[in-house]
Amino acid sequence: MTQHKPIKKAVFPVAGLGTRFLPATKAIPKELLPIVDRPLIQYAVDEAREAGIEQIIFVTGRGKTAIVEHFDVAYELESTMEERGKDMSVLDPTRATPGDIITVRQQVPLGLGHAIWCARAIVGNDPFAILLPDELMVGEPGCMKQMVEAYNEVGGNLISVLEVPQDEVSSYGVIAPGAEISDALTEVTGLVEKPPVAEAPSNKIISGRYILQPEVMRTLETQGKGAGGEIQLTDAMARMIGNQPFHAVTFAGNRYDCGSKTGFVEATLALALERDDMGSEVRAIAERLLAK
Ligand code: UTP
Repeated sequence: MTQHKPIKKAVFPVAGLGTRFLPATKAIPKELLPIVDRPLIQYAVDEAREAGIEQIIFVTGRGKTAIVEHFDVAYELESTMEERGKDMSVLDPTRATPGDIITVRQQVPLGLGHAIWCARAIVGNDPFAILLPDELMVGEPGCMKQMVEAYNEVGGNLISVLEVPQDEVSSYGVIAPGAEISDALTEVTGLVEKPPVAEAPSNKIISGRYILQPEVMRTLETQGKGAGGEIQLTDAMARMIGNQPFHAVTFAGNRYDCGSKTGFVEATLALALERDDMGSEVRAIAERLLAK
């Protein structure tokens, strides 16, 4: 088997305005909204670490510094907790190896593609992962680990996809599928962002996890505005197809669109119901509310 350059870097674009969650996101970044007791960004970073990622690259913007602080040492809090004999292990996932968290700035949110391009100097000539923290992917193993396993087989570029009802495709990036390599791995022959239902090449939507070759940065450099007047990552990836191998991994697990209010509530309920420490209590509450 060919040895592909390992994936050690991940970019987390967190510079968006989060307008769908206003006023909650006026002073708090969307990525710090919690699902039960962990902020969205923590789920994404944990997923990346599980996949062997070492360098965490945040593309931040105005008002987003609390995201970086979440992964810092909180001296006052920690010494007070220690004095009071509190369990400190809850903070373990927030600890980072010194030097492993890097932030770059996207001054104006011009779109996801532009946000990724802002990380070009840190990505350099390495293949890298992208995780959109407002898409919560729950699976065993996690979505990025499933993707890294596929990458180790085929190399090149990979995107994670899931199937949705045909009439919902126009809200998403959609793939044109090519040859099927295995049950979960398909070649990608084209990509289109938010197509009209009648023009959609499939019902397989791109779902917020990517492994890309560094050449995408060169493509993004000349990428004009696309759907919604934003510089779209999907458009840049579409231009790379044909020059570079491109595959889609169908994620075995559940995806929650936490960028939308109903998706956020769904994720909160689903994860709370699965928890050993509160699942049965939450189920009883949900049943009581539904019975009304
Ligand atoms: P969204 O499309 O969900 O946009 O971005 P948004 O601004 O966060 O939220 P709404 O639509 O206004 O409610 C998907 C991901 O890409 C990041 C966001 O932070 C989010 O994690 N993003 C988006 C950027 O970093 N920069 C951008 O210019 C756009």
